[in-house]
Amino acid sequence: MRSALNVIRDEHRSLTAVLHGLWYLVDEVREGRRKPEFTVLRAMVHYIDTFPEKLHHPKESGYLFARLRRRTTLGRAALDQLEAEHIHGAKLIRDLEQALLRWEMGSQQDFVAFAEEVERYVDFHRRHMQQEEQVVLPLAERVLTEEDWRAIDAACSGNADPLIAKDVEKNFERLFKRIVKAPPPLGFGREN
Ligand SMILES: [Fe+2]
Ligand SMILES: [Fe+2]
Repeated sequence: MRSALNVIRDEHRSLTAVLHGLWYLVDEVREGRRKPEFTVLRAMVHYIDTFPEKLHHPKESGYLFARLRRRTTLGRAALDQLEAEHIHGAKLIRDLEQALLRWEMGSQQDFVAFAEEVERYVDFHRRHMQQEEQVVLPLAERVLTEEDWRAIDAACSGNADPLIAKDVEKNFERLFKRIVKAPPPLGFGREN
């Protein structure tokens, strides 16, 4: 399989794990099994913000989607929808951050609002990734040329894009390690 596609699928898996972890922690608090762990929750929201916004979505929109648009008119509606979601996702993550802050400073009612934001965001992102994996990635495998893949693979390995600085990747790695070392389940609590 193409290395860019592996990178995108791996990043979807990481994001899915964090989204699932976030949803799980919220559910634990809702059921009264756990006290809020704001440091972990903040790290998770920050991870989601940093990761899709600065690393993942730019690679998709700027390289994979752009090349697909040049090669074919197939999948155009799906690409339009997904690119609109990349933009809309930035607003949703701001809403999530603000809801978390309000809960941290506020009350049980603010927790309910945060939990609703989490559910909305997790659902939004799951559907988004599913659409990419079921429609866009298979289409890319069918229609893109060797030259397209060279450009996309280079971008996905982080070499071609000066905006994706090494220190961003390092911070992101540190943050991810902090999240996975947080209490179980779902891989959280792992030392690595
Ligand atoms: Fe995306
Ligand atoms: Fe994606």
